[in-house]
Amino acid sequence: MTDLEQQLQSLRAEAEAAIAACGDAQALLQIKSKYIGPQGAVTAALKQLGALPKEDKPRVGKLANEVKTALAAAIEARQADLEAKASTSGPAIDTTLPGRRHRIGHQHPLTQIFEQTVAIFRRMGFAVEDGPEIEDEWHCFDALNTPADHPARDIQDTLYVDLPKGERGRYLLRTHTSPVQIRTMLKRKPPIRIVAPGRVFRRDNPDATHSPTFHQIEGLYVDKNVTVADLKGTVEFFFKQLLDPETKVRFRPHFFPYTEPSFEIDLSTPHFRARGKEWIEIAGCGMVDPNVFKAVGYPDDAYTGWAFGFGIERLAMVQYGITDIRLFTENDVRFLEQF
Ligand code: DAH
Repeated sequence: MTDLEQQLQSLRAEAEAAIAACGDAQALLQIKSKYIGPQGAVTAALKQLGALPKEDKPRVGKLANEVKTALAAAIEARQADLEAKASTSGPAIDTTLPGRRHRIGHQHPLTQIFEQTVAIFRRMGFAVEDGPEIEDEWHCFDALNTPADHPARDIQDTLYVDLPKGERGRYLLRTHTSPVQIRTMLKRKPPIRIVAPGRVFRRDNPDATHSPTFHQIEGLYVDKNVTVADLKGTVEFFFKQLLDPETKVRFRPHFFPYTEPSFEIDLSTPHFRARGKEWIEIAGCGMVDPNVFKAVGYPDDAYTGWAFGFGIERLAMVQYGITDIRLFTENDVRFLEQF
């Protein structure tokens, strides 16, 4: 065995030990350049091949190439090892720990009032009805006995939709849930007992107490011999259930085109009184006007009925002491989580 062969074998042993002991990628690169880089020891040994006697050259040359290839492979394998280790390191995970409770969404206060309202009316035998938010003038106004020159129909108050005029007038964003009364009566004969929760729109610039969109709940009861006493009893029972058994209800005469007589409903609860508010004006209601029955094709004098409509935001604001209506649509969880 030539000196060079001995030298190659000891270089190989030395380099393999260094590779096995090497713990980081940077040190591994240094080992690579120390042994098999252009200035490396194995490379230098290869350069000495030329000085060997002719008969030794093939054998020693083969060994030198084997050593170089083996070291290159060992370095590559170690590099892969180190990379794999780096990607799985980090804090150890204890898979036996119980899962952490995820923060889930929160029900909107208006949704809560809707659901409570619907539940109370369902117990009294009322069904839930729905109608489109894009309405036409006939359902929203004409059928509800609202004359063509009524101020509510003005473009200053109502958001008209830029669609070709339909058979039943221009399209608009419904200004109240009352058109659902018309849609229900058109498709069904009395007895009718429904509530219709939904979104409504008016032309308003937003500030703390105005919003171009808000929510209402409409109620309608039509049958033979329905009276104002039924209206008062039902409304009073409902608000006592929703708010407080001590709630007092007051009817004040008012005017709506679609009811006669018409009333505004004021409420007083111990909770409101504690906030220094005696009576809160909360809803409109009345006995369905005969012209409304005529519009939906009900026979003259066959039925009587009552209807009401109230705003959900307003109720939530007095109930919870919310002073800015915009909070309902900002969807800030810090607000929503309080209900
Ligand atoms: N539509 C009315 C409003 O938006 C509320 C209302 C009043 C509804 C009287 C009714 C009613 O059904 O009978 O202010």
